[in-house]
Amino acid sequence: MSTAPLHNADATIDWADVRAQFPALHQEIHGHPLAYLDNAASSQMPQRVIDRIVRYQSHEHSNIHRGVHHLSQIATDAFEDARRRVQRFINADSEHECVFVRGTTEAINTVMNGWGRKFMGEGDVVVLSHLEHHSNIVPWQMLRDQKGIELRIIPVLDDGTLDFDAYLELLDERVKLVGLIHVSNAIGTINDVRKFADAAHAVGAKILIDGAQSTPHMPVDVQALGADFFGFSAHKLCGASGAGVFWAKAELLDAMDPFMGGGSMIRSVSFEETTYAAAPEKFEAGTPAIMPVIALGEAIAFLEEIGLDNIAAREAELLAYAESKLRPLEFVRILGPDASRRAAVLSMVIDGAHPHDVGTILDNAGVAIRAGHHCAQPTMKRFGVPATARASMAFYNDESDVDALVAALHDVKEIFG
Ligand code: ALA
Repeated sequence: MSTAPLHNADATIDWADVRAQFPALHQEIHGHPLAYLDNAASSQMPQRVIDRIVRYQSHEHSNIHRGVHHLSQIATDAFEDARRRVQRFINADSEHECVFVRGTTEAINTVMNGWGRKFMGEGDVVVLSHLEHHSNIVPWQMLRDQKGIELRIIPVLDDGTLDFDAYLELLDERVKLVGLIHVSNAIGTINDVRKFADAAHAVGAKILIDGAQSTPHMPVDVQALGADFFGFSAHKLCGASGAGVFWAKAELLDAMDPFMGGGSMIRSVSFEETTYAAAPEKFEAGTPAIMPVIALGEAIAFLEEIGLDNIAAREAELLAYAESKLRPLEFVRILGPDASRRAAVLSMVIDGAHPHDVGTILDNAGVAIRAGHHCAQPTMKRFGVPATARASMAFYNDESDVDALVAALHDVKEIFG
């Protein structure tokens, strides 16, 4: 998906009822109803996922893939069921292409260690965008320092979108990989991944997509996107921290080296030689994050029942409402493209106020946002600021959250003049 959705959310969905299913949203912080607007950092969890975790921990907990006893088989079935749900969720060709990792960062590091180190060397090029999260910058700098690869950076235009023409200029036969964030966590830009993927493939390069900020907010189809590698995190998707997904095309998984060695990822071990299991096990050394993976499966089922297209449409409505309230405020500047090309992220610079002070004043009013560089220092630098105050919405937010944000921003204005 390259732009915000054009259709409306299903009118039969009762969004107040959806919101009611998130217990964390129904509490007071510093004497005010919580307005949780830090969803790009971590989303909240619906009761259904919490219940699934309680059931697993109360009655099903066991190690997986190793035990012949009843609990181990139940836990293994639930874990593998989550893998099949992930496969459907991102439209992977096969569940064997879906590897459970700790999160998007580990997915990217798996590509760097397992594919980059094996197939890239001096003179090879990785192209990254100026909008990348540190997790898709630092691993490639490590590879640059170890193997002598070159990094090239796709510039970002003043409107917060990537300069596609400049990207085409960066591509040549030395480019082996393009690393691209699907949706910018820092300013919300939605990148047209397919266009970037087609151009990468035209020069024989692979493309790695950071899906941490897209998977919770819009339908994602890794095949339609033209991705070769893809990663996302459960804790931004109504799940628990500690689990995420690394997806790659089967032939790439076959060709790659495993990132970590240990139990579960082998076919046979002797002191002379070890042979590896096939994917996904080859990349799942050690006991995985069993409970968070099972919770992820439940979270995906929950999100799919609402419908990712409905979620995208509801968030577009909320963004339009927020824009109508915030754009008229002359002391607030919102970074990033217009709402049609931006996720429901409001990355704000407030005249005369440091983002950390903004975050603290908003917190006193019960409004939770993230203040800082959002692990995207190059993006901040590009826009001439060290940090922003970022409000990020999810489908379970409502207009009252936006109203609370706007009222608290007026408090900031009063304090800082
Ligand atoms: N990457 C997460 C964020 O943008 C933590 O806040």
